[in-house]
Amino acid sequence: MRTLFNLEKTYIEESLAKKKRVQYLEKIWTSEENVSPEISTIEREDDSVHVSLEKSLANADIDSSRLIDENTMLSAPILSQFLPATKIKGKEDWVLESDHFKRFDKNLSANIEKEYEMHFPEHLNVYCFEQNNYSKFEGPQTGATGVYNYYLMDGGSVLPVLALDIKPGDHILDMCAAPGGKSFLALQTLYPNYLVCNDSSLSRVNRILNVLEQYFYDLDKRWIKANRLKVTQRDGRLIQKENYSRVLVDVPCTTDRLSVMENDNNIFKPGRIKERLKLPELQSELLLSAMKLVKKGGVVVYSTCSLSPIQNDGVVSMALKKIWEETNLEFIVKDLSPALAQVQSVYRLADASLMKYGQLVIPFKEQNYGPTYFCKLQRMIESVVVLTSVNDEFHSHGNNYILV
Ligand SMILES: C[S@@+](CC[C@H](N)C(=O)[O-])C[C@H]1O[C@@H](n2cnc3c(N)ncnc32)[C@H](O)[C@@H]1O
Repeated sequence: MRTLFNLEKTYIEESLAKKKRVQYLEKIWTSEENVSPEISTIEREDDSVHVSLEKSLANADIDSSRLIDENTMLSAPILSQFLPATKIKGKEDWVLESDHFKRFDKNLSANIEKEYEMHFPEHLNVYCFEQNNYSKFEGPQTGATGVYNYYLMDGGSVLPVLALDIKPGDHILDMCAAPGGKSFLALQTLYPNYLVCNDSSLSRVNRILNVLEQYFYDLDKRWIKANRLKVTQRDGRLIQKENYSRVLVDVPCTTDRLSVMENDNNIFKPGRIKERLKLPELQSELLLSAMKLVKKGGVVVYSTCSLSPIQNDGVVSMALKKIWEETNLEFIVKDLSPALAQVQSVYRLADASLMKYGQLVIPFKEQNYGPTYFCKLQRMIESVVVLTSVNDEFHSHGNNYILV
């Protein structure tokens, strides 16, 4: 993948040239339309949209075996005896999904800054098949050291960890870590000085340890006994204040790929409707907690494996609003779209015009990763000082001093 990242530079130049060619052609087409209006009129005369319904029915090839005979028991008046429904069972606690969207404050203004670079850590090796290659990776094998040679994961999961921009010596919290895929990537960089893998579920916390033991032959000596790795079982919303330089919040979500593939315990089944509708609330509380745990200048990455706008940008919007209302902490949203131009040949990303804060990897046939949404937030070191007059008096709004 590192190689593909580098190859992208040429690709971007080619795309820009292509875009220019298309714009040039569009100009020509538009001017042709203006020059010969008669031609367009003639074309429209044939347009089937203007043919009357009677005329098109007369010419249509109708499958008469599918027509309902009004004289039989299946006639429309008989069917309508059962409609419309007057009462929906269980309506009392029915919550419209659209009500949940109302919390997404589209008018919230946040500081957004473009980011042009994305560092690929030296020791992190990630392999993928090229586009249109539908081969399967064989299962991992154990080698001479007794640990597996690679970990299979959705290609989309790499980006939230790269977005964390882990640097040597970082103190990292992976707030919702089980089964441990992204913690595994973070450790693979060899950069962290201290990594806490947390999850609220005890059985899933045990899975983190199992996974890491299967892949790091020196896990105990080099990481656990050296106090560089801790696995904890806590509700992420209740973790006490500590100054982490990086916090990853890979929240529970509707797991869209799994939900369309598997029936077992599906989050969309009627019995889990309340849990599903409460997800955005839980997600924003977890993100808010992460924002309170990161130190000045530190990075928080919020991620989901859902396409849902409310679980993605909507949750970021809610958390930004709450942090502004409840604390004096200041955050800046990092717009990673320029930096991600270099990974176009590996991932298909949602059009920037559809996204407000984060980026979204969209599954597509040729390279079937995701969905993965991720958004990078950085806690500001300095508060913003806005000079509105030469008077020396300071008025404060939280941490945001305004000199008036
Ligand atoms: C999407 S999964 C995380 C996947 C993981 N980051 C990985 O890459 O392997 C979400 C996790 O959040 C955990 N979770 C749910 N509610 C939580 C909470 N309140 N605090 C911490 N973890 C929670 C779930 O148990 C689940 O393991």
